[in-house]
Amino acid sequence: ERTRTDADDVTLIGHRACAGQYPENTVAAIERAVPHVDAVEIDVRRCASGELVVFHDEELDRLTEGGGRVADAEWDELRELTVLDSGEAIPRLDEALRAVPAGTAVNVEIKERGLAGDALDAADEADAEVLFSSFLPDALAALRDRDPAADRALLVADGDPEALVAAATDLGCVGIHPPTDLVTEPGFVEAAHEAGLAVNAWTAADRDDAERLLDAGVDGVIADRWDLF
Ligand code: G3P
Ligand code: MG
Repeated sequence: ERTRTDADDVTLIGHRACAGQYPENTVAAIERAVPHVDAVEIDVRRCASGELVVFHDEELDRLTEGGGRVADAEWDELRELTVLDSGEAIPRLDEALRAVPAGTAVNVEIKERGLAGDALDAADEADAEVLFSSFLPDALAALRDRDPAADRALLVADGDPEALVAAATDLGCVGIHPPTDLVTEPGFVEAAHEAGLAVNAWTAADRDDAERLLDAGVDGVIADRWDLF
């Protein structure tokens, strides 16, 4: 039996720190989103000089005046760029985590392999309440091996609900993060809850999306805006 989530009970997670309202994945977006959300979701990858940077895309061209791959750019170059003509800079992970006050969680989405040690160190140093997530099972396994106590969630795109839930459970995850079309399939939320997993669904862009996700019985909504409920 499917139980609708009450809007007051849902965990609201600002997608890329509310990319529908603010320049995505920037410190300014985090600061503006924080008063309105339970958590912010940010994307992390590594640049050529080794720093972990908060940036969604593999390439720079959609979001900045720069071009080429983030992985090929030095931090000294990246720090000069601005995101979506906002005047806001690309932050390093440590800068983004320091912008999140106590009481607000951070969902750090790991976009690449090989980030586990540095991402865990950054979370420790910032004393941040972090839920790591990734589409990459081996990235989650690397986090688990270094720090079994770190909270992890498996991001999934499609597939058989039982198999996806089993994969998340095998990785010792506390949650599973499915897209709207998958989480609204009959049986998905029930299977995840049966396994003890929190279900945080992505991505609600508007109120209709948000209503569908509440109807599906999710625990959390990863939303582009904080004003959907
Ligand atoms: O973490 C949920 C969502 O952010 C996954 O997709 O491409 O927006 O990082 P993407
Ligand atoms: Mg993401």
